[in-house]
Amino acid sequence: MKSYVYSRAPINIALIKYWGKKDEKEVLPYQPSISLSLDVFETHTTIKRIEGPFEFTINGLKDEDMAKQVKHFLKNFTHGNLDQISVATTNSGPTAAGLASSASGYAALATAANAFFETKFTLSKLSEITRKGSGSAIRSLLPNCVKWDVDGLIYPIEWSFPKAKMGIIIVSDKKKKISSREAMKISILTSPLYDHWVKQSFKDAKHFETFNDKHQFSELGELIEQNALLMHQVCETSSPKIQFLTDISYQIIHHIQDKRKQKTYEAYVTMDAGPNVKVLCLKDDMQTIEKDLKQLGHDIIWSNIDQKGAVILNEV
Ligand code: DP6
Repeated sequence: MKSYVYSRAPINIALIKYWGKKDEKEVLPYQPSISLSLDVFETHTTIKRIEGPFEFTINGLKDEDMAKQVKHFLKNFTHGNLDQISVATTNSGPTAAGLASSASGYAALATAANAFFETKFTLSKLSEITRKGSGSAIRSLLPNCVKWDVDGLIYPIEWSFPKAKMGIIIVSDKKKKISSREAMKISILTSPLYDHWVKQSFKDAKHFETFNDKHQFSELGELIEQNALLMHQVCETSSPKIQFLTDISYQIIHHIQDKRKQKTYEAYVTMDAGPNVKVLCLKDDMQTIEKDLKQLGHDIIWSNIDQKGAVILNEV
């Protein structure tokens, strides 16, 4: 066992979404998903030896519920007692607001734990563990463009748009009312669109790879926007209705779609389990988009595609 390990992991935003577990215990998804790891809102995690009982803090504060989950997760790395160990994690973005903080969080924790407990798990073993923390966290283990396939494993995809940028428009940074975990269970059981969604996701993942290979940005943009909107239709047709997008989210979405039709700029939207809207565009359009959204009363936070993935930054 080491005495100190410090890791970082990126958030990732799915362009082809994961929404449903075929196997809840193993966290195997019903559909392939594809994401971009981003270099904003990363998580940094420290695991170190201390005198005294197990300690966990998130952004400097104790959280008993999360402490229990973290302790449970660390059992994947050690059968030993977790006393005299402290885990401190900081998110540079909002926590549990549908901005992938649990993805970067579990990827950073798994990476740190693998080094701290000297388990030396391979990427596939580490993936198996990480997705049990949170499904989408598996994709934050790698940089750039990542596919999480229905076999449960992750595959790097060579992203062919070096000029692509993602922007995040924060509609609300409040904690979401329902967890993705609970919400997707309800969707599987009650949405009349769920079967269609699964079939469509397979087609979408295939088309994504074709458009990416052929450098067809516009086609890829339309595809990812439709995929996100279908996921939200699945949520909104669930019973009880799951409503992540607010009137403001829809106002932004429709505005961006209009500007695209008018050829003012080319941007495509994607949204996750929260009201925030993410935009995929090319660098040349960034300024126009930013100015336009400012007029609508919204700021956009730009991000590059992450090139590092989940890594150890320091260890003793
Ligand atoms: C909408 O990975 O948060 O962001 O596996 O239950 O922890 P659990 O769910 P989570 O779900 C993410 C759903 C999504 C789409 C995506 O990231 O693919």
